[in-house]
Amino acid sequence: MPKVPKSETVRLDKFLSNQLNISRADAKELIKKRLVSVNGDTAKLFDMKIDPVNDLVHSEGRPVLYRKHIYIMLNKPAGVVCSTRDKLSETVLELIPQELRRAGLFPAGRLDKDTEGFVLITDDGAFAHEILSPKKHVDKKYFAVLEKPARESDAELFASGMKIDGGDVCLPAVLEFTDNPNEVFITLHEGMYHQIKRMAEAADNKIVYLKRISMGGLVLDDNLAPGECREIMHKEIEKIYAKT
Ligand code: URA
Repeated sequence: MPKVPKSETVRLDKFLSNQLNISRADAKELIKKRLVSVNGDTAKLFDMKIDPVNDLVHSEGRPVLYRKHIYIMLNKPAGVVCSTRDKLSETVLELIPQELRRAGLFPAGRLDKDTEGFVLITDDGAFAHEILSPKKHVDKKYFAVLEKPARESDAELFASGMKIDGGDVCLPAVLEFTDNPNEVFITLHEGMYHQIKRMAEAADNKIVYLKRISMGGLVLDDNLAPGECREIMHKEIEKIYAKT
C-alpha cells in the first residue's frame, strides 16, 4: 500500500489548544487527566508530536477534527462593526459562537456599521488577501435601497469606471434594476471605503439600506438570521472563486 505522506508534526497540547480553542494550560490538564488519546492510545506527554492530518485524536471521548483554517459565513446585522475589537460597539467577532472561535480570526473585508449581510470571517490571511484583491475578480454583490429611483444613466455611469469624491476612480461596476425603481443590485470588483454610498452620491442619490448578498459565486445563506453564522467548507469556499 502506498505510504501516506507525513504532514508537519505539532505538539499535542498546542494542537488541542488550537483546535478546541482552549488555553494551553487547559489542554495540558486534559492530557494530565488521561482524557486524550492518539490513535486509540491514551496520551501521557504534553509535548508528544502528532501529525494533525493523519493521526486520530480524541478528547473526552470525542474526535478532535483538524482544520488548518476556519471559514465562517456571518449575516452581519446593522449596528455591529467589522473589526476585531472596538471600545464602543459590538464587533463581528463577538457574534461568533465559542465552538467556532480561535486565535487569529478576523473579517475578510469590511462592511460599514449600518450595512448588513455577508461577512466572511477566517484565520487564513492568504485567502483573505486573495478574495479582496481586485486582481482576483471576486465580485461582491449588494442589494441597495435608494432614496430616489435609479435611472438608466446611473447604470451607464457605474459601468464607466466613475470618479467619486476624494478623486478615487472606481473599477466598472454593475447596476441591475428590479421591479421597484428604488431597489437595485450593485456588483463591485473592489471594496473602497464607503464605496457604494459614495457612488450613489456621485449619481445624485443616497443609499438608505445596504446589504451584501454574495461574494463571488457564494450567496449568503437565507437560513442565517441577522447575527447568525455558520462554518463553510471546501465546496462552498471554492464557490467564492466561481464567476457570477
Ligand atoms: N459600500 C458601502 O458604501 N458600504 C459598505 O458597507 C459596502 C460597500
